[in-house]
Amino acid sequence: MATDTARTTEIDVAALTADEAAKEHARLGEEIAGHDKRYYQDDAPTVSDAEYDALRRRYEAIEDAFPELKGMDSLSEKVGAAPSSKFAKIRHAVPMLSLGNAFAAEEVEEFVARIRRFLGLATDAEVAMTAEPKIDGLSCSLRYEEGRLIVAATRGDGFEGEDVTQNVRTISEVPQHLKAKDVPAVFEVRGEVYMGHTDFAAINERQKEAGKPLFANPRNAAAGSLRQLDPKITASRPLRFFAYAWGEVSEGGLPADTQSGVITAFNRWGLPTNPLTVVCRTAEELLAHYHSIEEQRASLGYDIDGVVYKVDSLALQRRLGFVSRSPRWALAHKFPAQRAITQLERIEIQVGRTGALTPVAKLTPITVGGVVVSNASLHNEDYIKGIGGGGEPIRGGIDIREGDWVTIQRAGDVIPQVVGVELERRPADAKPYEFPTLCPVCHSHAVREDGEVVRRCTGGLICAAQAVERIRHFVSRDAFDIEGLGEKQVQAFYEWGLVKQPADIFTLAARDADPAALTRLKNRDGWGETSARNLFAAIEVRRQVPVNRFLYALGIRHVGETNAKRLLRHYGTIEALREAALNAVPPGEEHPKGNEAWAEMVATEGIGAVVAEAVVDFFAEPNNEAAVDALLKEVTPEPLEVVAASGAVAGKTVVFTGALEKMTRDEAKAMAERLGAKVAGSVSKKTDYVVAGADAGSKLAKARELGVAVLSEDEWLELAGAG
Ligand code: IVH
Repeated sequence: MATDTARTTEIDVAALTADEAAKEHARLGEEIAGHDKRYYQDDAPTVSDAEYDALRRRYEAIEDAFPELKGMDSLSEKVGAAPSSKFAKIRHAVPMLSLGNAFAAEEVEEFVARIRRFLGLATDAEVAMTAEPKIDGLSCSLRYEEGRLIVAATRGDGFEGEDVTQNVRTISEVPQHLKAKDVPAVFEVRGEVYMGHTDFAAINERQKEAGKPLFANPRNAAAGSLRQLDPKITASRPLRFFAYAWGEVSEGGLPADTQSGVITAFNRWGLPTNPLTVVCRTAEELLAHYHSIEEQRASLGYDIDGVVYKVDSLALQRRLGFVSRSPRWALAHKFPAQRAITQLERIEIQVGRTGALTPVAKLTPITVGGVVVSNASLHNEDYIKGIGGGGEPIRGGIDIREGDWVTIQRAGDVIPQVVGVELERRPADAKPYEFPTLCPVCHSHAVREDGEVVRRCTGGLICAAQAVERIRHFVSRDAFDIEGLGEKQVQAFYEWGLVKQPADIFTLAARDADPAALTRLKNRDGWGETSARNLFAAIEVRRQVPVNRFLYALGIRHVGETNAKRLLRHYGTIEALREAALNAVPPGEEHPKGNEAWAEMVATEGIGAVVAEAVVDFFAEPNNEAAVDALLKEVTPEPLEVVAASGAVAGKTVVFTGALEKMTRDEAKAMAERLGAKVAGSVSKKTDYVVAGADAGSKLAKARELGVAVLSEDEWLELAGAG
């Protein structure tokens, strides 16, 4: 997110303590790995290249300042993300590395100066370099043996990629044979697979007609097409190729001793190369070519995101070598993000499948870099207020209001962002934006947890935006486990209006049998007499369900299977839990530490404030209460499920003796039984534990005599709590 970028670029690395640096290094590492996965494996990036680069630079700067953080797992040594598992893996004979990045002209000058210094050349010595467009596609390695295309692989993590040979064979621009006398026995050609603008538009048109999701940009369309399991689909997507580098080459096989010479040979061999490749002698010439390419960018017919400079002499390239993941002899000079100013007409709140409320800026449409933009991301409530991810101000702390003139940025091709506000043009009547506290879809309360930036709808059980996801969870294996109700069926039932909330599942059969029913289930698409009957039977047997499954099925945030059991071990029933939740008042002005009911909930074994708050929020929403009531009319929760193998006391025989302090004898017995233990009245050889309170008498003596383990009340509670 842009907020993260803002945070990471604003604190000076030099000012970080070792501890802060380690934390941030780990945080950035995780964030970058996430972006890598979304970019390389899912073909669905969520940040712009510029933002990604900023994160990466920050990460590397921290490693430079704190070299001890450079562990084996350091991301700086990796490129991209590990290949996904659906294709066979190909290990690259020569790793496919990445390029260092620059944005400013000074960085290009410094790049040239650094090369001169490294090579011990005079400060005004000319170093010939190639300059060529940086194609925004995905890199691919094509292995030719005896001139024949043998294997094609994606970059993957730089060391191991995916075998996409069959798909690459469908690309007409990639020759199956290299026909020339000087083609070496082994030659790996490297270059970029990409999709042109016209083809991209046509593909998206086709996707739209077929009701399929659109590709965000040509790069994603190219990646999605190349990584198709069915080569026929790839063949129907017009992919193209530019060759610009190489991997393994048999001994003495290079056709030239310069970069530009090899590119010329590529051309001769029938490989497509980029016509805008030139040789320059100085940084000024590189920059002039950069600007010339930038001017032609919109009319090239394919996406490029910068210009790549490479030292021309291969001998010098070898001397310069590599630094971590990129060659010292090459640089990617990126184009700046594209920006424009337009009016923000209104802020719309979208509700995601998990209930997250996401603000979107509805803009007066404007063209940015040839693309019409009418929506932009506003990330979250704090972002609108001008507060970044770390709580520090962003955009100078200026908030975003409906009616404002805003700067939007398209960088890479992800969703445009609102990055600035023209304060002097702010309409006099513009009011600070009030983020809704009710879900715009179902009008349930939308709450923000402590430390969270996202506000979420709490009405998951009835909210149309979340319903399918929630019902799917409700019927899933560890919840109600209703056979025959998978994701597809849940989706269809929702669309048919048959199941809008969990309780509807249990009234389905009766409604279906009603003579007034318009269409019987057995007559609907995908259903028949038997499958309908089986489904109704599968639903029927779940009218009794262990209470922990009932609670888990409700999908309360942070209440997974374990917490559901923990809560019910303490409260016993849904009603008792609900009562406690309705009475509980979390810490606030009235009760600085929360009231008694709250204190009891957070004192429950394994339950902390985050879980307790989620439970309180859930039951505070009348829509949820109604949905639970409706469900309780249909379903009878049964005692807590005990898995015999789990829990330290499950299956054990326990005898309580003496006066217990923390609970009554009945309570102790009920608790032990809930945990799967057997409670006996007298001590024998079969007794596993004797829990002895004050003034224990003969039973304690008997336990000692038989060598049975004796526990104090506290020891017992600890043992039981661990279960
Ligand atoms: S040269 C060892 N040249 O940019 C250097 N890369 O950020 C090999 N790319 O992985 C790469 N156009 O996917 C090179 N003209 C070009 C390029 C180019 C696009 C991509 C390539 C590479 C990435 C590095």
